[in-house]
Amino acid sequence: MKNYNIAVLAGDGIGPEIIAQAIKVLDCVSKHTDIKFNFNYGYIGGAGYEKFGHPLPNETLEIVKKSDAVLFGAVGDWKYDSLARHLRPEQAILGLRKEFELFANFRPAKLYSALAHTSTLKPEIIENLDILIIRELNGDVYFGEPRGIRIASEGKFKGYREGFDTMKYSVPEVERIAHTAFQAAMKRSKKLCSIDKSNVLETSQLWREVMIDISKQYPQVELSHMYVDNAAMQLIREPNAFDVMVTGNLFGDILSDQASVLCGSIGMLPSASLNKDNFGLYEPSHGSAPDIAGKNIANPLAAILSASMMLTYSFNLVELSKAIEQAVNDCLSQGYRTLDIFSKLDDEILCSTEQMGAYVVNNLINRLNEYA
Ligand code: IPM
Ligand code: MG
Repeated sequence: MKNYNIAVLAGDGIGPEIIAQAIKVLDCVSKHTDIKFNFNYGYIGGAGYEKFGHPLPNETLEIVKKSDAVLFGAVGDWKYDSLARHLRPEQAILGLRKEFELFANFRPAKLYSALAHTSTLKPEIIENLDILIIRELNGDVYFGEPRGIRIASEGKFKGYREGFDTMKYSVPEVERIAHTAFQAAMKRSKKLCSIDKSNVLETSQLWREVMIDISKQYPQVELSHMYVDNAAMQLIREPNAFDVMVTGNLFGDILSDQASVLCGSIGMLPSASLNKDNFGLYEPSHGSAPDIAGKNIANPLAAILSASMMLTYSFNLVELSKAIEQAVNDCLSQGYRTLDIFSKLDDEILCSTEQMGAYVVNNLINRLNEYA
């Protein structure tokens, strides 16, 4: 019997209701296999602020330190918009990424064929879409110092307030994400596209140099480069030309949101954020959606698929992880749809957050029996 401790940080908005479905799925795995998952619940984001006066309370950090992985819901609510930046819910996720050196963010964009018609792009453009965006998560303009708001002391706008941030990447930071990306490409089609803006930015110039340098250690992988503006265009024009993409923190933030709609709904997309030891935080790519919170209508599939990623990336339980993914696919083939992916077709059945969780569990039991 194997035991895993999972920190569960459900957070705000729809976080608790979607995470509850992911827990149901993991409990189902526990019940039907000799793998046991123990859950330790912590407060995060707005919920952390309400309970302990901070979006990332020490109590929560302690829980995470004692865990083998983190299952994260979502953070944020408009009601915290007026708080000082360091108290805003978003700081919780940025703080966790930094504190645990979760530098490698995996954001797969995979189309489930039953949902092809829900994409804003033509079905033939997104057919069999399966791309993986690898986003660096610990550096770039997100964390670069100095930053702030000051009075400009020179130049044409001297005397005016100005905001400033620092974009930077050091060689080791690019090297480690490069290794992650090349290794991921080795497991897939052996094609890696690095996205930068090296025609304008020194940060990107160095990024590209390091990518080329590291590529020599992976001669089987075909490395290409693309400017981020062009990549944004190609992602819509011919998404299937990509397989694995690697990019910095800011570009990755934007491109991964863009890629998410190719698959119909952002409610379908999971993500993993890993450190060098494969300790990871798993979260749906969508946000806290406070407008639909508590209504039992949110799509829990991204949270469930995030749990599936946890099994692969942190616990190396690849078969079980696949079984969860197949159970999700089964639900979609059977026509079950939450509101975000419901298009009123004859063979579609509208269901609630909880019902979708239950249908995944039912299908998973069948899938697990196949493996038994
Ligand atoms: C994401 C989010 C975060 C980011 C926010 C909530 C800080 O947009 O995970 O993509 O910008 O990284
Ligand atoms: Mg984002």
